Amino acid sequence: PEALLKRIILASSRPGDIVADFFCGSGTTLAVAEKLGRRWIGSDLSKFAIQVTRKRLLDIHHSKDLQNKDRKYGNPARPFELWNIGNYETVYWLERQDEYLTFMLKLYQSQPLNGFRYLHGRKGDRTVHIGPLNAPVTMEDVEKVVIECRNNNFNKADILGWEWSYEVNELAKTSAKKNGIDLKLIQIPSVNEIKSSLVGFDVQLLKVPEQIIEKELIKYIKFPEVAYLEIEDKINGNEVTLKISDFQLSPTAELAEIASKVKDSRELIDYWAIDWDYKEDTFHNQWQSFRVKKNPRVDYQARHKYEDVGNYKIMIKVVDVFGNDTNKILKVRIK
Ligand SMILES: C[S@@+](CC[C@H](N)C(=O)[O-])C[C@H]1O[C@@H](n2cnc3c(N)ncnc32)[C@H](O)[C@@H]1O
Repeated sequence: PEALLKRIILASSRPGDIVADFFCGSGTTLAVAEKLGRRWIGSDLSKFAIQVTRKRLLDIHHSKDLQNKDRKYGNPARPFELWNIGNYETVYWLERQDEYLTFMLKLYQSQPLNGFRYLHGRKGDRTVHIGPLNAPVTMEDVEKVVIECRNNNFNKADILGWEWSYEVNELAKTSAKKNGIDLKLIQIPSVNEIKSSLVGFDVQLLKVPEQIIEKELIKYIKFPEVAYLEIEDKINGNEVTLKISDFQLSPTAELAEIASKVKDSRELIDYWAIDWDYKEDTFHNQWQSFRVKKNPRVDYQARHKYEDVGNYKIMIKVVDVFGNDTNKILKVRIK
């Protein structure tokens, strides 16, 4: 309860001190620290915990005041950053491409396929391409996979990626279909998610024994199909308006359970955020909209005015109600 954490924090820190909760769960400690004027650091390995905490802090002004329960706290949270850190594995894999491909193929329960340039593996009757570690999958990558499939009489391909460039969406699948290829775009779960399935095992991610991959990791690790996100953009002078016009998740058992309650598929969006000037490194959360209990729908439209002319990359990050991210990059030119 907040009241208990209030006592602990008041008794053991002063305003401006840093309060840390490295297992922050739903973020109670951080919210109380924020309300008591302390700085804070929180961490958690669960993406749901981070998502709940992020929304709780962004919505803290609506929460109860610590002194008077009948009042709202009323103040917005001071700016904070959300980092995805500790991905030492990514750095390690960058220098060991073969190990990376082998591990990913195993995790995806597929077998290596030799003698091809872009087709790395095979899962049943589908070929598998593993996307790059440090760059989004581009339309060019998709085309290379499609051409190699066609030249070798394969007609099904799964492309696995960490990130996707904007134009890689349903249209990529439609164009592959025209070339006779049944294409699926598959999201690789985050390194943290893979790691969290290993909690309780005394093993490092890089040296996971085969039987653990088979018995444990595969049970918990899901490779969802990439959601379909359609964004309409309008440029009027220096002002850009973005609108989510469609959002579709691929059918899963989890989705079937809630499908009857969802009238507009955009209601499956839990949170979305925009970096209006994405520089290909850190995502700067410059605008966001998220569901809260009282209003379980995000705003579907966002606006931004640019001060300078030029070419900009806009990064859009959508988190759906199942905690999966869909990231898209859009290019605009402000004249
Ligand atoms: C009971 S909750 C914490 C509640 C929170 N400390 C509070 O005061 O409200 C425990 C959290 O620990 C997280 N957790 C478990 N093992 C972890 C680990 N090795 N590293 C980071 N977080 C972990 C879980 O995901 C869960 O969200």
